[in-house]
Formats: sequence, C-alpha cells, structure tokens
Amino acid sequence: VTKQDLAGLTVAVSTGGTREPIDPVRHLGNRSSGRQGVAVARAAAERGARVRLVAAHVDEGVLTDALHPRIEIARVSTAAELRQSMHAAADGADVVVMVAAVADYRVAQVSDHKLRKEDGAPVLELVENPDILAELVAAREPGQTVVGFAAETADSEDELLERGRRKRSRKAVDLLVVNRVSHDRGFESADNDVTLVDAHDEVVSHAAGSKRLVADTLWNEVVSLRR
Ligand code: PMT
Repeated sequence: VTKQDLAGLTVAVSTGGTREPIDPVRHLGNRSSGRQGVAVARAAAERGARVRLVAAHVDEGVLTDALHPRIEIARVSTAAELRQSMHAAADGADVVVMVAAVADYRVAQVSDHKLRKEDGAPVLELVENPDILAELVAAREPGQTVVGFAAETADSEDELLERGRRKRSRKAVDLLVVNRVSHDRGFESADNDVTLVDAHDEVVSHAAGSKRLVADTLWNEVVSLRR
C-alpha cells in the first residue's frame, strides 16, 4: 500500500493548456497534454490528500487517470476561467500546485464572426494575461505551500538552473519544478526531466523518468518542507 503521508491535506492542482479564442472557430493554444498535472493529482490522492483538480485542455483519455474518489475535477478553457477556478480551489487548501501551461497573452479583440481569408492575413493584437501563480502567492494563506512549474529550454544544465533560480525568486514560490523542455521532451511525452529548487534557490532534487515519478518527487519535497 502507498504511504498515506498526505492524509488530512487538501491540495489544489491545475493542469493542461489554456486556449485563447481568436474567433468562433480558432484559438491560440499550446502543447500541454495535461499528463504531468494529472499525475500530480493522482499521486496526491493515492497518498491520502483531497484533491481539487482544475483541468484546462487535456489530451483524449488523460483525465481517466484522475478518476479517484478523492479527486474533484473542474474543467476550464481560457486563462481567465482557470484563474477564477484556481482562486476558488486554493481557498482553504494546504498546498497549491500550478502545473497548467497558461497562455501569457490573449487576443485583444475576439472576432464574433469567423475571420475570412478574402479579408487578407489578420494581424492579431495580443494583451497580457494576469500571472495566476503570482496572484496565488500574493493571496497565500498562513501555512499554505505554493509550488510552481517552469517550462524552460536551455543549451546547458547551468543555463537551465540559472533561469530556474531567477524564476523561483521572481515568483516567490516555496518550490519551483524546473522542467527542461524541447520538441520531444516535457510537453505531451510520457516522461519528464525536472530539477526542484526551494525557497533558498537551492537544488533539492532531480527526477528523470515517468511523470508519476516526477509527481512523487514533488510530493516528497512538499512533505519534507512542511515538516
Ligand atoms: O501537460 P504535459 O504534456 O504533461 O506537459 C507538462 C508541462 C511541460 C506543461 C509541465 O510540466 C510544465 O512545465 N508546466 C508549466 C508550463 C509553463 O507554462 O511554464 P511557465 O514557465 O510559462 O510558467 C511558470 C509558472 O507560472 C507555471 O507554474 C504556470 O502555471 C504559471 N503561470 C504562467 C503564466 C500565467 N499567466 N499564469 C501562471 O500562473
């Protein structure tokens, strides 16, 4: 049996990729499959936590792994919807984990009709979306642990860590999971490769393997830093 070291805790987890509409039939999106966030939710539930999972767009079949009596799922689409649901999920939660790939920008004027080819190539004006993780950190309740993810491309391990540390301090999270991504790693794939950086910008662990292994490494670290 799995150790119940998260029993009694309520955790909020976001997963998947948000979509920003352009017109009634098109959107700006990203390659997140939702696998990593679902693995984080599943691992927490199996270790005894109550899980509030906020799922943006995920690949076909991925959410079946989130079917567990202790996981409650809310579905969202845009960054604005994810923001609202995550604030609600974080309310009273002991741990908040932002795994979702949130669009940094949305289209300023969403067209109410399908953009037509005969009108020529459109120029999309983008406006910045709020940083949900930063808001959750600012609203952090006493005793609440906030974990962020950072998808980074880098030419070397040093560059990756440097970017990770900078993002950790900028975001002021308790733990940052620095995720090395490339065209064939991180997004969509079954495996992942991460380095965990704590609130002192120290590397506390590394995990390379299944997304479940990454999830369990994250929870081990959360348990030890809440001790
Ligand atoms: O879904 P999979 O296919 O399994 O892939 C997993 C993953 C690669 C998507 C995941 O492991 C991952 O790295 N997720 C974070 C991706 C990301 O958007 O990173 P970022 O560096 O852009 O954002 C940093 C952090 O801020 C993240 O916790 C993100 O959720 C959060 N954020 C970002 C933008 C924004 N407007 N609001 C946010 O809260």
